[in-house]
Amino acid sequence: SPLEKRTNGNGLVIDSVSLEKILSLNRSPVYVTSLNAVAERVKQYKKSLNYFFRNNEVFYAMKANFSSPILEEIKNSGAGIDIVSIGEWRAAVQAGFAPEKICFAGVGKKEEEWKEAITGGLGYLSVEHLSELSDILYYLGEEKAKLKKHPKISLRLNPSIEVDTHPHLKTGALNSKFGILFEHFEKWLLNKKDTFKNKKDYLSWISPLKGLHVHVGSQLTENSIFPLLVKKLLDCTQFMYTHDIAIHHIDFGGGLGVPVNGVSFDGEDIEKHLHFLLSTFVNSARNYAQLMQLWQEDFSKLFVSVEPGRSIVASSTIFLTKVLFEKKNSEENLFCYVDGAMNDFPRPSLYGAIHHSEIVNFKNKSSIEKQLSHGLLKWKIVGPVCESGDFLSKESLLPQIQKGDVIAFFEAGAYCRSMASQYNLRPLPSEIFVKNGNIIKVI
Ligand code: LLP
Repeated sequence: SPLEKRTNGNGLVIDSVSLEKILSLNRSPVYVTSLNAVAERVKQYKKSLNYFFRNNEVFYAMKANFSSPILEEIKNSGAGIDIVSIGEWRAAVQAGFAPEKICFAGVGKKEEEWKEAITGGLGYLSVEHLSELSDILYYLGEEKAKLKKHPKISLRLNPSIEVDTHPHLKTGALNSKFGILFEHFEKWLLNKKDTFKNKKDYLSWISPLKGLHVHVGSQLTENSIFPLLVKKLLDCTQFMYTHDIAIHHIDFGGGLGVPVNGVSFDGEDIEKHLHFLLSTFVNSARNYAQLMQLWQEDFSKLFVSVEPGRSIVASSTIFLTKVLFEKKNSEENLFCYVDGAMNDFPRPSLYGAIHHSEIVNFKNKSSIEKQLSHGLLKWKIVGPVCESGDFLSKESLLPQIQKGDVIAFFEAGAYCRSMASQYNLRPLPSEIFVKNGNIIKVI
């Protein structure tokens, strides 16, 4: 992997760039990203998709990390991009993504948001509410002649499936605000269909609807839900088919997890899990004769996409923060104060997330032996923000810590820098990007 982890003060190497070189830039707290690692993940996704489907796309979910060198790397790797707001639309266009490679998903879009994207040539639009679908179909019908290009519309299905992840990251269950329940769509379609005088008008009205989309949650590390998910998707596609809606696009969303607290779920697992999902789909689809006719035996008439965020960028990045001081309130309350805080690295305080941490640079090289000789202690790693919710770790097993030591937090590329805030009017953390053995950008 481009991110080599070597600890106990023996140095950490990021894409052949030594930590020493990075620390000499004096940027703490700072995110350090290997762009080669990002490109590698996109390739893995592409490889798995290509194995099953000729027509496919990886739409990188830019909410995970929208730093410009990352967007540039993703664009150059040939992937498309998944956006959720007009801000992300503008950033994606500015980064040079072709509008037809942009997929706009998102719960609660404003009319002016989807209109701006549609008139800008948006490729794919996922709808999350039936009233949004009505409005968009009406708009496309009215504007038909004026619009240069039409986006392909897909319906985000709420499959009512429970997944095993943090409650804030579940998005496909009945108690979730996301997506449209199948029975709601069924009722809506039958009602609407009744209002058309002839079939031709009905077909023309519904024609932009070409896809189905699901995203059941994030940081998923088990795949036992895939068969049920696939069945719900295929049943819904079959129902649509019987009402003359030909689904030619299936989007499986994102969600694949990354290692948490030493539990491995890395690149190889991405291929394994994706392979299982896609093969489940391919095998189950063979039981739906009409759909197989629609898609052909080799699925060449089906476009399949995914929208991964975390699994593309998380492992490419570490967060480095410097020790300011330490304090012992009691045996159980050993505090390590660092210059990074909850607003720089928010996942521990927001979700109780555990990111593996290590001392990667000892300030005083002559005391390394002494620091290590204390054995491992349980540290609470806390920042300078004025509240007790400001912790980066509640329990890190590390040796004796000293002022000036540098601690690294791993798997820090997703939903960390992109969710940083300026709470307490602290400046946003720096970023260093490394590629092919060179530091190519410092922000
Ligand atoms: N597609 C949709 C519709 C989504 O809502 C999301 C993530 C993704 C794709 C990308 O999912 P991923 O592959 O990254 O799991 N801030 C939270 C994560 C929120 C995820 C939101 N939706 C965290 O720090 O864990």
